[in-house]
Amino acid sequence: MIPYGKQHISTEDIRAVVEVLNSEYLTQGPAVPAFEQAIENYTGAKFAVAVNSATSALHIACLALGLTVDDWLWTTPNTFVASANCGRYCGANIDFVDIQSDTYNLDPIALKQKLEISRRHNLLPKIVVAVDFAGQSCDWKSLRSLANEYGFFLIEDASHAIGGRYLAKPVGDCSYADITIFSFHPVKIITTAEGGMTLTNDELLAKKMRRLRSHGITRDPAEMIKPADGPWSYQQIELGWNYRMTDIQAALGLSQLKRINEFVAQRHHIAKIYNEALKNLPLTTPYQDPDAFSAYHLYPVVLHDPSKRLAVFNTLRAANIGVNVHYIPVHTQPYYQSLGHKQGNYPIAESYYAGTISLPIYPQMTNDEQDYVIQTIKNALS
Ligand SMILES: Cc1ncc(COP(=O)(O)O)c(C=O)c1O
Repeated sequence: MIPYGKQHISTEDIRAVVEVLNSEYLTQGPAVPAFEQAIENYTGAKFAVAVNSATSALHIACLALGLTVDDWLWTTPNTFVASANCGRYCGANIDFVDIQSDTYNLDPIALKQKLEISRRHNLLPKIVVAVDFAGQSCDWKSLRSLANEYGFFLIEDASHAIGGRYLAKPVGDCSYADITIFSFHPVKIITTAEGGMTLTNDELLAKKMRRLRSHGITRDPAEMIKPADGPWSYQQIELGWNYRMTDIQAALGLSQLKRINEFVAQRHHIAKIYNEALKNLPLTTPYQDPDAFSAYHLYPVVLHDPSKRLAVFNTLRAANIGVNVHYIPVHTQPYYQSLGHKQGNYPIAESYYAGTISLPIYPQMTNDEQDYVIQTIKNALS
């Protein structure tokens, strides 16, 4: 099977992991802060907090921004369920904003319209989670100006987008978002097996997220509520979780990060070949916003005739090509429908979903593999 995405593990990566296994610390050792520091250097963000998944990262980001019961979190329907679930973990209500028809990212124009209506009803969101879908940055300039005007926080779900750039600056530098999060799941740009990261330029948010990933415990006397009992003292000052990343994972991430620019360049190379080879077929290849340099986590095409999607998908799968679909709109999931969200509410996300197929893209994809995918999709559409 040619998968839609997969990790690339080098002998260097294996050596880095084995080194940790042979060391004193499997967790809470030096590799996690070293990985955090390397991500700070790479992105330009002031503070990075490593966790055990992007889902955990989204959860502690929402908590740190004070999201609670009766608040509203808005996100895009064109995402993985985690971008919405993080709000539910905090007891908040979830609503969605439709996407742009070219980038498939949350649409600032639709957002503004919804904000205007919601302001009249006093139902403005506390947080908007926008997703850099497929690795391409959202229109963050517009999102930031709406956040300033209407007074909400912005979380950038950059699970797909480490290694990309927006207006020539690295994704994750938090120029626009209050908090950015990354995923290091194996299909993503770099991997720690499972893993995630939150980034911010706000020291207080970073401190809070550090506590929340580790039971709400602090060892910093300045944060303690009552006098320390002694040098062994730690105090739990709020409710937190065990969302810590291990040193084994961090060592893998640190080693992978050395090759991130190579990985992204290779993804661009593959995308360029697809763009050229598929341009005369009855499908839309991914539009690239000139403000963004995508990390190309995904290569989603949209068939002009969505009634052919199932047959084309099945043909590709039968040919051992592990195509996938990103994403089933979150508001159409049974759980969100049980909360009152309805099919038909976000027509652009739904019409995009009806025709889309994600073709394989990963750094080690060979020319032969890509030729085979191209030929098979050409045959399937002819
Ligand atoms: C946009 C988006 N957000 C969040 C997540 C959750 O990531 P993780 O598996 O690291 O928890 C994913 C995972 O696929 C994702 O694609």
